[in-house]
Amino acid sequence: MSRPLTGKIALVTGASRGIGRAIAEALANDGALVAVHYGKNKAAADAVVANITSAGGQAFAIGADLARKTAAQDLFKEFDRELMARTGSNKFDILINNAGIAPFAGFSETTEAVFDEIYAVNVRSLFFITQEADKRLNDGGRIVSTSTGAVRTPYGPVTAYSMLKAPLDNLTKTLAVEFGPRAITVNAVAPGAIDTDMAEFLRADEGREFALSKQALKRIGQPDDIADVVAFLAGPRARWITGEVIEATGGTNLTF
Ligand SMILES: NC(=O)c1ccc[n+]([C@@H]2O[C@H](COP(=O)([O-])OP(=O)(O)OC[C@H]3O[C@@H](n4cnc5c(N)ncnc54)[C@H](OP(=O)(O)O)[C@@H]3O)[C@@H](O)[C@H]2O)c1
Repeated sequence: MSRPLTGKIALVTGASRGIGRAIAEALANDGALVAVHYGKNKAAADAVVANITSAGGQAFAIGADLARKTAAQDLFKEFDRELMARTGSNKFDILINNAGIAPFAGFSETTEAVFDEIYAVNVRSLFFITQEADKRLNDGGRIVSTSTGAVRTPYGPVTAYSMLKAPLDNLTKTLAVEFGPRAITVNAVAPGAIDTDMAEFLRADEGREFALSKQALKRIGQPDDIADVVAFLAGPRARWITGEVIEATGGTNLTF
């Protein structure tokens, strides 16, 4: 079996559950040593690490609440300590900005507290985590962030979430230019509805039928459907792709 990420080190934020978990497992399966970041669910992150190691891979868990102003410093304090203990260095190769929240709140129900939390976790922490990562990423590295198809086609029940993923797509282009001279590519993957805790409406008949009615491909997307795209972008075969937001939505909202 080809293991294109052998010798590489990856950090996946929000890897205790859902899409992040699938990404962490895919990168480890491709040979990377993976830092599995979690917010509240240490036990879930430890289970991801155990799953990876029992399959012959390498991983360790690190915790940091990304809603805090000090999110980036908190995260890299843990990351540096754990990685130094394993490799003697805090340098790494692949940053996956995946953690996110999507509280269900339409325009009129969105309070300032909800707006601020979405901003803190999905935008602010991502910006400063990437800034800290810049000091540690090896040349030839990769940055891949999880956006959403709701940037192109906003979804009213998550108004602020849809709006606040747009900055990520914008930043992807700026950072592609910023990191390009070091052969570091910067891309985003924009999923449609994926069966995770975040999209638990898919677990009810009505929600599932609604999602399927919007998609060309008539099945509910799974975390692996996104992880495979991210693993491709993180690998050597995607070396010439940068500054792109790649939709992986099963063909959602293609026509009127
Ligand atoms: N599912 C979808 O339909 C869908 C569609 C489009 C885009 N996305 C995007 O895909 C990414 C992953 O979503 P998902 O569906 O996998 O979500 P999920 O199952 O709800 O998992 C969210 C992950 O983010 C972490 N997280 C949340 N708040 C955090 C905080 N304050 N501090 C640190 N970590 C925090 C969670 O960690 P803990 O549990 O440890 O706190 C968890 O690992 C998100 O960026 C989301 O916007 C998802």
